[in-house]
Amino acid sequence: MMNDIRVEKLLINYKTLEQFKRFKEYGNQELSMLEDLQNNIIENDSESPFYGIHIGHTLIARMSLYRVRAKYDAYFEPPQDYLELWKLEVLPDYRGRNYGKALVDFAKSFQLPIKTNPRINSHGFWEKMGFQKAKYEMERDLGENPLIWMPAGVREKDV
Ligand SMILES: CC(C)(COP(=O)(O)OP(=O)(O)OC[C@H]1O[C@@H](n2cnc3c(N)ncnc32)[C@H](O)[C@@H]1OP(=O)(O)O)[C@@H](O)C(=O)NCCC(=O)NCCS
Repeated sequence: MMNDIRVEKLLINYKTLEQFKRFKEYGNQELSMLEDLQNNIIENDSESPFYGIHIGHTLIARMSLYRVRAKYDAYFEPPQDYLELWKLEVLPDYRGRNYGKALVDFAKSFQLPIKTNPRINSHGFWEKMGFQKAKYEMERDLGENPLIWMPAGVREKDV
């Protein structure tokens, strides 16, 4: 059953953007992709930072992943490229069936450290996924409470 879960990179097209409307965290990022498509600033089927899981033709889970370059890394030692993960969301009817885990495992498969800003109430999930609270540094984290995951051999930066 678990082996059937396939994570795919999502392309920017009207169909994907229509499917995004079903997710709670729909906002500026999606609207700006839609505008860029409508104004021909980007081509149909351009790459997006989103990855998702489909059941049939329905997108039921997604996340955004962005590779932050080492020169902007303020979390890990030594400074290195890491992944910022956001907008992880499984549609309500499909929760609790390992789709969230499948997306996080996919992100981990790049073997880069990962940083995310968890939503309230999702701490239990992130803890299960092996994420830990980053040591809080006010000037870096301000109002955020970032969680981090590190592959073997990577350490958190001392703050
Ligand atoms: C948080 C979210 C991404 C998790 O995805 P999911 O597909 O439902 O989770 P999975 O089925 O992959 O869960 C993997 C493991 O984490 C656990 N888990 C999932 N959500 C959890 C939670 N909120 N608290 C504690 N553990 C949780 C599961 O029980 C499972 O553990 P197991 O392997 O021992 O059975 C998804 O539920 C979601 O999009 N929620 C949106 C709203 C939200 O953040 N809710 C938080 C709970 S109210």
